[in-house]
Amino acid sequence: MEHDSMWIPAVLRRIEDVAEDIRLFEIEPDGGATPYPTGSHIEIEVLIGDEPATRSYSLVGAGPTEGVWRIAVKRLPQSRGGSERMWALAPGARLRIARPTSHFELRPGAPSYLLLAGGIGITPMVGMVEALAAAGADARLVYAVRSRSQAAFLDRLAGRLDLRVDDEGAVVDLDAEIAGLHPEGEMYVCGPVGLMEAARRAWSRAGRPAERLRMETFGSSGHHPAQDFVVHVADRDLTLTVPANRSLLDALAGAGVDVASDCKRGECGLCAVQLVAVAGEVDHRDLFLSDHQKMENALICACVSRAVGTVTVDTGHRAHL
Ligand code: FES
Repeated sequence: MEHDSMWIPAVLRRIEDVAEDIRLFEIEPDGGATPYPTGSHIEIEVLIGDEPATRSYSLVGAGPTEGVWRIAVKRLPQSRGGSERMWALAPGARLRIARPTSHFELRPGAPSYLLLAGGIGITPMVGMVEALAAAGADARLVYAVRSRSQAAFLDRLAGRLDLRVDDEGAVVDLDAEIAGLHPEGEMYVCGPVGLMEAARRAWSRAGRPAERLRMETFGSSGHHPAQDFVVHVADRDLTLTVPANRSLLDALAGAGVDVASDCKRGECGLCAVQLVAVAGEVDHRDLFLSDHQKMENALICACVSRAVGTVTVDTGHRAHL
């Protein structure tokens, strides 16, 4: 758990179901909800079993209204347990939260913006599209969902989005979307890891500069549902099970194996440890390693990535990244 001073008490004021398995939470922090940079998230302290843990949720909207911050949480029974804890809350519940911070800030001044959201990745995009509209910027929001019932905020975003519903045969043509963007335009992507990997590939194929692509990830999104897996730490001769509701990083720390970390969002690469052997499959969930590095399976970002089966790591050998 982070240092105590970062946490502030808050109360859950109201909940509202805004799509199938997506619930909006209105949270009033003690001292009042302050403005935040577009693309911000808050961390919430949750108990997973008996273990305290934190979960990050993007704020919905360009700023607080009616004295509350809003988040939307998708219920994911097969994830690490945070969404189930959130969905168990009723109005009046007391919470501990951290003030908003942003790793996904909107950079003003681009000639055009392409916003691409997949599933629950719509949450930071609501504020972005509202802020861009208020600034009179040229922006296009493409929102991909599996089925129409899973699309949230459609009324709020009416007239500002292009909805692509997978089971109605409407998929996103990333190459065409990028080709239609101003040559100096920027793309912002938030969604499942598969969508973000595809977006990164398409951006690179189009010869666009990496600094004009911004991506927001969340650790619950992988190629496989979160499940227990076994890790053997070769340099400590230690074997442990990483439970479905804990990260590899936390499980290692709990066993006394400290691995340096920073973002804990799969973006900075600081927590990457060497993979010595894989019996099963690695579920790379980070945005740091390249496609080639993920195929090589020589490294795993311990903060977000997981495995199916058993992996052997060497935490004493820090990779040259
Ligand atoms: S701590 Fe940044 S990628 Fe894991």
